[in-house]
Amino acid sequence: MGVRVRHAVREDIDVMAEVFAKAFRVGMSEAREVFEVSMDVQPDGCFVAVTDTNSIAGTGCFFIYGPLAWIGNVAVLPQLQRRGIGTSLMKELLREMGCRGVRTVRLDASRYGHGLYLKLGFIDEYRTVTYRITAPPTSGSGDALQVTGEVPEWVFRIDAEAFGADRSMALKALLRRGAALITLGRRGYAIVRGEDVGPVVAEGRDAAEALIAKAYELGARKLIVIERNPEAVGMAKELRWVPEDVCVRMRLGPPCREKVNLIYAALSYAKG
Ligand SMILES: CC(C)(COP(=O)(O)OP(=O)(O)OC[C@H]1O[C@@H](n2cnc3c(N)ncnc32)[C@H](O)[C@@H]1OP(=O)(O)O)[C@@H](O)C(=O)NCCC(=O)NCCS
Repeated sequence: MGVRVRHAVREDIDVMAEVFAKAFRVGMSEAREVFEVSMDVQPDGCFVAVTDTNSIAGTGCFFIYGPLAWIGNVAVLPQLQRRGIGTSLMKELLREMGCRGVRTVRLDASRYGHGLYLKLGFIDEYRTVTYRITAPPTSGSGDALQVTGEVPEWVFRIDAEAFGADRSMALKALLRRGAALITLGRRGYAIVRGEDVGPVVAEGRDAAEALIAKAYELGARKLIVIERNPEAVGMAKELRWVPEDVCVRMRLGPPCREKVNLIYAALSYAKG
């Protein structure tokens, strides 16, 4: 099918949200928020696939964190899938990132996207599983917990150490939009936005449990566990949290120096 891929502009957000909502079967307000945050984090990072009749059929965004970039929000209208639109979008995203010195591209593949990314050369790293937090951890080490609007610099430092790149621009965008930051001394931090908590970066399981217990108090009910962190998986299993969604984290390019043992919840499927 003849499509061209172009940069998205803010005026496209409503139609992009419609495409995303239909592809992922989510509500329009959630979908709109996805692109508002995405364009806030990386204003030139969203793309649309446009058909011959000038309508938007697909979306995709990248977030450049230095030499590492993340791809997210890849969606094609259900009635136009399997005609090469997803492939055209991905090729354009990869071409653009190649021009900007990105060495490694990562993403969380749904079961629909997995085959597409394999064909483009991505390899599997590990599974990332969304759990519903049905019961909070009971933790005794929460004395130093704080919910704060001020972001101490060490938060970005430990995040970069765990994640393997500086993604402070994405964290700041969430905090600007009213997400809550929970800190535990300098032992870890968590960000809560609505029902979601993530990232949770902590020096050990005790600290992670204290942060997640506080997040639960603030309304968090979902988090994405990186299956390569056995402590995080152990916590989810022992507390009998319910798995709701599974993706495969994939990579194109050399591996990054992330420390998965510090990551108790990912930021999001779209942003790492
Ligand atoms: C994933 C998605 C963007 C692919 O878009 P698309 O335009 O259909 O992709 P293409 O036509 O270029 O297909 C490329 C390959 O992707 C894979 N693929 C696409 N749709 C698929 C599906 N429904 N089930 C399994 N694999 C699928 C196949 O390997 C396909 O190659 P093939 O048709 O030769 O078998 C689209 O299916 C979609 O929006 N899905 C729902 C949202 C989603 O899961 N997005 C991905 C998030 S990581």
